[in-house]
Amino acid sequence: MKVVAFNGSPRKDGNTLILINGVFNELEKEGIGTELVQLSEKEIRGCIACYKCIENKDQRCAVKNDAANEYIEKMLGAEGIILGSPVYFNDVTPEMKALIDRTGYVSRANGRMFKNKVGAAVAAVRRSGAVHTIDSMNHFFLSGEMILVGRAMGMGRERGEVEKDEEGMRLVKTLGQRMAWLLKKIHG
Ligand SMILES: Cc1cc2nc3c(=O)[nH]c(=O)nc-3n(C[C@H](O)[C@H](O)[C@H](O)COP(=O)(O)O)c2cc1C
Repeated sequence: MKVVAFNGSPRKDGNTLILINGVFNELEKEGIGTELVQLSEKEIRGCIACYKCIENKDQRCAVKNDAANEYIEKMLGAEGIILGSPVYFNDVTPEMKALIDRTGYVSRANGRMFKNKVGAAVAAVRRSGAVHTIDSMNHFFLSGEMILVGRAMGMGRERGEVEKDEEGMRLVKTLGQRMAWLLKKIHG
């Protein structure tokens, strides 16, 4: 059993990663495999609305010159998906939005191919916009007919500051425990 997490922060080792790792720790305690994808490492652009995925129905994006298809592959190979983003102007980062649009549309074009995977969203926030940011990521899970297990947000601005947010760190721990519990219920 495996969970793949996508970190939408351009700051690879920042607060969003700390939150993702908080979820991963609990999953790993339960013997569930984890894989981290840093969206900042490879290019992924927005959807160009060619609608070729609807014609082709081959579980792939027709634009093949960036990382979208690699990420689709990773999602298909996992039982659980975590989306993590810092809050940028009260919403997800452009990298996370590109991931959602590109993979989400291919999923729709192929009968919602991530259906029944377990999803969770985490957001790192300095002060405002965490709920809206989490909602943006939840649309990916809900419109894809995935199973939403929960969400968590942690507060901080500087790299690592989120660790001082005790409640935020507690939320990611609980989220990891619940995700492990649900995955085990579904997949034994
Ligand atoms: C371009 C930009 C926009 C931001 N917008 C917001 C915002 O709207 N609300 C907020 O509370 N924090 C905002 N922040 C702060 C980040 O969400 C915060 O520093 C977060 O912890 C960064 O996570 P990271 O270390 O994973 O990149 C913004 C930061 C940047 C660089």
